[in-house]
Amino acid sequence: MYEHDVLVVGAGGAGLRAAVAAHEQGADVAMVTKLHPVRSHTGAAEGGINAALREGDSWDLHAYDTMKGSDYLGDAPSIEKLAKDAPGEVIKTEHWGMPFSREDDGRVSQRPFGGLSFPRTTYAGAETGHHLLHTLYEQVVKRGITVYDEWYVMNLAVTNEDDPRDRSCHGVVGYDVQTGNIEGFKARKGVILATGGVGQAFDHTTNAVSCTGDGQAMAYRAGVPMEDMEFVQFHPTTLPSTGVLISEGVRGEGGILYNKNGERFMFEYGYANNDGELASRDVVARAELTEVNEGRGIEDEYVHLDMRHLGEERIIDRLENILHLARDFEGVDGLEEPMPVKPGQHYEMGGIETNEHGQTCIEGLYAAGECACASVHGANRLGGNALPELMVFGARAGNHAAGIDLGEPEVQTGRTGDEERDEVDSSVTLGEEGITGSALADGGATLSSPDEVLRATVDREKQRVDHLMSKEEGLQHAEIRAKVQKAMTRWVNVFREKEGLQKALEVIREARELYEEVYVADPSKTFNTDLQMTYETRNVIDVAEAITVGALVREEFRGAHWRKEHQERKDENWLKHTMLDWNGGSPEVYYKPVVLEGEDKTYEPKERSY
Ligand code: FUM
Repeated sequence: MYEHDVLVVGAGGAGLRAAVAAHEQGADVAMVTKLHPVRSHTGAAEGGINAALREGDSWDLHAYDTMKGSDYLGDAPSIEKLAKDAPGEVIKTEHWGMPFSREDDGRVSQRPFGGLSFPRTTYAGAETGHHLLHTLYEQVVKRGITVYDEWYVMNLAVTNEDDPRDRSCHGVVGYDVQTGNIEGFKARKGVILATGGVGQAFDHTTNAVSCTGDGQAMAYRAGVPMEDMEFVQFHPTTLPSTGVLISEGVRGEGGILYNKNGERFMFEYGYANNDGELASRDVVARAELTEVNEGRGIEDEYVHLDMRHLGEERIIDRLENILHLARDFEGVDGLEEPMPVKPGQHYEMGGIETNEHGQTCIEGLYAAGECACASVHGANRLGGNALPELMVFGARAGNHAAGIDLGEPEVQTGRTGDEERDEVDSSVTLGEEGITGSALADGGATLSSPDEVLRATVDREKQRVDHLMSKEEGLQHAEIRAKVQKAMTRWVNVFREKEGLQKALEVIREARELYEEVYVADPSKTFNTDLQMTYETRNVIDVAEAITVGALVREEFRGAHWRKEHQERKDENWLKHTMLDWNGGSPEVYYKPVVLEGEDKTYEPKERSY
């Protein structure tokens, strides 16, 4: 068994920042990560980091833009912490050597991004995430923080009292991808989940193959509610054949969207008469698909993004990476021709419910970055707000887990007992009720000592692996995962309707039943990616179901969540977070109020137009 004060699961931006923060507070920190840190998906972030750095800008303008972008579903205490702390984080990373793009006078450059009232997106070319990841990793190496890389975390060692708020997390169970060994990792002070997004629940996504919702699914099954999972961001500019991201930075620098008639449709058809291409992402993604659905798309699939007029010098200076991506993945020369683009899954606004310190309702369990929902993004994230979020909330979680007092949280976590509940209008059973295969059973660990809880969880994972590996035949995880991805892309996409969402739940149920027959064909101990991906597929099923349930119960149109039958935002009934409680395998929906009271003001929901 390994033992540390703080364990960070995942080594992308949030995990690295959390590890550095906890280490700075004197904690013995270790990272347990299925990828080497610099292979993490943060490296794919292109456009930039929002922070109010310049004269004329201020944290409260940033907070206001974020609240408006969230369609008033973000929690003000978290949004205000993001906006206030982002400038300090940017300056810190600059001091750590982050190679930001600069103006001739030496100042860090900032560019316009969608939904921002001030050009406040700092960037490093169009590969900001790559540089951020390397800058943060250098700090981890410099401090000698232990990194267990290529260790896949299979489960959390959590006690199983009836009420999740009475449970405690004492560590994790890791699978050494290189040797096949399964070991316990004990955390004396806390476990911080920083495992990233859920893109693999869809088949057209900007996300890496590693983004399988591991942290979300493990926390959910351990008893932490999933919050606002229906709010999935579809980025307007992804390459049609692969889903590779073409940064919003292209539009920030002046790139223009055209339909097949050569019309600048954002203005021509009144989708966003003021901000045009720089309206927020949900607005632009719907506009593009409306163009396609109304017959003005190209090859009935995509639109054009043109940056040729910016000129070669500016493109090379600020967007060179985009030229490489368009050429390598779509065979298009962005200097000579417009680039084909269409919406693709990009980001999950919802996630593991946390307060603004990164704490979940389970003692000792934290989450930060995309896997978490401190409710900064609400119903729609603004481009450029993911990187400051992972730094600000990574640092907060790291500090708190290391024992720093951050004061009383204003955002509450866990069920209260008197919350508003809801039924899901589905003909199929949700969750794992009725599923008997031992590949799924989680069992319990009502044991008092942390070591016993950890040992029991390790034993359970060993049994699960034995079960999966001992079968001589069955179904392969890839077949099951592909079914879910297809259904999600077809029915839980930008445009959603009740019948489609119900069909998606039927497919997800079928996937759960098929998963009972899953087996691992590769018998080897070393680098058995078949086994790892079989585990990940279970997580994909759980997060796909959480997204779809949220989308079905939320009967309104807010931010990224569009419903055919409900064409307006309904503040009277729906100014609340959708919460999903695993409830021992029979998920339950309930709601939690949105916190609109900030430090000095209350944010009044207004009509949102760009
Ligand atoms: O378009 C982009 O460069 C993506 C940025 C983001 O998701 O924040």
